[in-house]
Amino acid sequence: MNEVILSPSLLAADFARAGEALALVREAGAPWIHLDVMDGHFVRAVTFGGQMVAALRRCSDLFLDVHIMADRNGALAEDLMQAGADSITFHIESEKDPAALLQRIRAGGCRAGLALKPATPVEQVYPYLPLCDMVLVMTVEPGAGGQPLIPETLEKVRALRNRAPELDIQVDGGINERTAAAAREAGANVLVAGSAVFGSSDPAGAIARLRGGAPCA
Ligand code: DX5
Ligand code: ZN
Repeated sequence: MNEVILSPSLLAADFARAGEALALVREAGAPWIHLDVMDGHFVRAVTFGGQMVAALRRCSDLFLDVHIMADRNGALAEDLMQAGADSITFHIESEKDPAALLQRIRAGGCRAGLALKPATPVEQVYPYLPLCDMVLVMTVEPGAGGQPLIPETLEKVRALRNRAPELDIQVDGGINERTAAAAREAGANVLVAGSAVFGSSDPAGAIARLRGGAPCA
């Protein structure tokens, strides 16, 4: 079984205090930070790009897990590699040549990931699995934090885990202490949590509980 990794999502933190958020995550023992890059087209919201990621790289040695939600992935991926991202995941729905981009990301020294929206059949990623370090199964519609997990998406996790026992499988959206257990049981090993961490009155405690997989108190 793959190591279980918690990747708290900065999206739910105070962007004006991003450096402090990363320090808190580091101190609480989560190894990754999830950084959502949104372009205002693929999803309505706009967040940040390479410049912000470079600034975060300078202030933290956390593993920078970047999730691109954009129509044009190539140039953004180049910027993010330059910025010091450790992993770059983009959406299969918005990329004409996923194989070429996965190869470019790996050639740049980054881990490469492919994401799918809730309505996208999991079979679509199968041809690209040899080029993927991780597959992100979105458990909500991409674009905003704080939505409830769509239970049917966990069936895709299950199918993918059966097909690829060694793959890192990430789930993102609606992950909390209760749904984390279901996601892990389905076969996910990389858990993104935004509001469950930064929306909590005790983010460090939430990280510890999500990492331990302890049941909800
Ligand atoms: C949503 C983003 C998520 C978001 C998850 O499109 O990809 O990373 O931060 O937020 P929660 O954990 O609040 O559902
Ligand atoms: Zn995300």
